[in-house]
Amino acid sequence: MQFTTKGIHIGEKPNFQEGATGDVIVPLHLSTTFARQEVEVPTAGYEYSRSLNPTRKALESKLAAIEKARYGLAFSSGLGAETTVLLALLKSGDHVITTDDLYGGTQRLFRKVFTANYGIEFSFVDSANPARVEDAIRKETKMIWIETPTNPMLKLTDIARIALIAKENNLILVVDNTFMSPYFQNPLELGADIVLHSTSKYINGHSDSIGGAVMVSRDDLYEKLQFMQNSAGAMMSPFDSYLVLRGIKTLSLRMRQHEENAIEIAKFLSDHPKVKKVIYPGLESHPQHELAKEQMRGFGGMMAIELEGELEDAKRFLSNLKYFALAESLGGVESLIELPALMTHGSVPVDDRKKLGITDTLIRVSVGIEETEDLIEDLVQALNF
Ligand SMILES: Cc1ncc(COP(=O)(O)O)c(C=O)c1O
Repeated sequence: MQFTTKGIHIGEKPNFQEGATGDVIVPLHLSTTFARQEVEVPTAGYEYSRSLNPTRKALESKLAAIEKARYGLAFSSGLGAETTVLLALLKSGDHVITTDDLYGGTQRLFRKVFTANYGIEFSFVDSANPARVEDAIRKETKMIWIETPTNPMLKLTDIARIALIAKENNLILVVDNTFMSPYFQNPLELGADIVLHSTSKYINGHSDSIGGAVMVSRDDLYEKLQFMQNSAGAMMSPFDSYLVLRGIKTLSLRMRQHEENAIEIAKFLSDHPKVKKVIYPGLESHPQHELAKEQMRGFGGMMAIELEGELEDAKRFLSNLKYFALAESLGGVESLIELPALMTHGSVPVDDRKKLGITDTLIRVSVGIEETEDLIEDLVQALNF
């Protein structure tokens, strides 16, 4: 079954059993608890909605299918998914090697919660260079956690190379695949153990639901993650599950349009005198363009641009825009734009920001699926600052 067919059909078969109405979509099951006819026999396996809910279950099987995994788990947010992975698989004293250019909220969770309160150590390294990852391995290391491409610098990590290092050293490899979505990249196929998404982004795609997903194929990992999903309780609500089920049905169509627009915009901005630099994996000028072609099936809708000038110029450009909403988040049908240094990555220490290249005029763009022509026209007028 191909991607879009899976996105539409897996987890949602019309129910023709007696008393059922043949709905073509899975109904929104809001019941918190499920009655049984006999003490020891839960009805169809359902007991209590935190543990298992029919709408969430349909979503979890769809999530697994589109990421080519055996199991899917849905959470209340991307960070809820991350917290669950860490709680399920690590303990105090363990060490994790991670990408230096991670999403700011993930860094805050690692540094200010898991290191500060639970004694789990993280080494932030340039995972684009596999030797840096290898050098950081200690006897306490249990996990490698990468984001590729990164947020906001769109730096790539070679998933297959890092997966080999993980296997040789008996480490669990987690890949945050939020930026590419399962449509453009499947890390499990490249040797990762766990794939994680903020479904708040492309997977849901309509900027109306916060959620997270974890996909795995290993039984041992699934058991631990499912146990923690129920024990810590950060699972996705039935209503969000319903929204995400709906979003996935058009994921492939949206991703194709995001990419088509992004390629046009990246080319246009590359030639604009007020733009110093465009960072987009689909441009030949991207230092890892070849790796992008190897491990991804497309280049996605995210880019970063650096403007000429000062912070004030960047602020003027952002306020001039009509269609690009000045907002955090990404992956929605509408174009979103933001200034990482003062917005999404404000919690990253200043020195680290400087080292990574997150300057005061670096702007992150989440290209939406509006008509390309309208978006370019908007950029033309806004760059007239
Ligand atoms: C790459 C990445 N991972 C994880 C998250 C966290 O997800 P959420 O906001 O759904 O908690 C985000 C949010 O921006 C993100 O961009």
